[in-house]
Amino acid sequence: MKLTLKIWRQENAEAKGSLITYPIDGIEGDMSFLEMLDVLNEQLINKGDDPVVFDHDCREGICGSCSLQINGEAHGPDHLVTTCQLHMRKFKDGDTIVIEPFRARAFPLIRDLMVDRSSFERIQQAGGYISVNTSGHTIDANAILINKEDADASFNAAICIGCGACVAACKNASAMLFTAAKVSQFALLPQGRVEATNRVLNMVEQMDKEGFGNCTNTGACEVQCPKGISLEYIARMNREYLTASLKG
Ligand code: SF4
Ligand code: FES
Repeated sequence: MKLTLKIWRQENAEAKGSLITYPIDGIEGDMSFLEMLDVLNEQLINKGDDPVVFDHDCREGICGSCSLQINGEAHGPDHLVTTCQLHMRKFKDGDTIVIEPFRARAFPLIRDLMVDRSSFERIQQAGGYISVNTSGHTIDANAILINKEDADASFNAAICIGCGACVAACKNASAMLFTAAKVSQFALLPQGRVEATNRVLNMVEQMDKEGFGNCTNTGACEVQCPKGISLEYIARMNREYLTASLKG
C-alpha cells in the first residue's frame, strides 16, 4: 500500500506544532499501525531526520501506552482494539491518515504524539488500592464467597488499561469512565468495601483537581474504549459517590 501520513510534530509543550505530510510506500495489510510507524521512523533516521516520537510498550493491548488519535478516532477505525492491535488492512491503498496525540488539558504534550498521562496515575494513587495485611495472616481469597455477578462486574471494570481513549473521545475531556472503572473494580468485591467511602471521594476529587471535564453523558467514551468498559460503571460510581458524600 501507498499511503499519505499527516503526522502532528511538536518539539515540546511550549513549541508550536503542526501536521507534517509524509508519503510512505510498501505497507502491508498484516503490519500493525505501530510497525507502519516503525517503517517511517527508519526512513526518517536514514535520511538524518528526527523520528516521530510515539508511546508504546507491550504492543499487545495490555499496557495502554500506545494512545493515538487516528483520523479523529481514539485508537483508530477498528472497534475494541488498541493502536498496537490495529492492522493496516483497515486502510486502503492511497488513503490519507491523520495521526495526532490524545488532546486534553490533563494530558500535556511531551513531544510529537506522546503525552503525559501521569494524571491517571495520581487518580489511582488517591484510592485505587486496598490496604489489607498480606504478611501471612490473610484469609485465603478462595475462602471469601463472592457471587458470580459481582465477580464478573469487577473483572469487567478491572480490564481498563488506563489508555485515556475515553478522555480523548469526550468533548469535555472527562475521565469519568476511567475513574468509574478503577473505583468499581474494588467496590464490587468485599475486600474493597473497607475503604470504599474514602476511595470514591478521594479519586473523584483528584480527577477534578487534574483538570478533566465533566461528564455530560454523550457516550463517546464507551464507543471508543478499546476494552468495552460500559457507561453503567459511571452511573454506579455516581450512586456510590452520592452515598459516600451523605456519609462524609
Ligand atoms: S475506560 Fe477504556 S478508554 Fe478509558 S482508560 Fe480505561 S480502557 Fe482506556
Ligand atoms: S503498546 Fe501496550 S496496549 Fe498498545
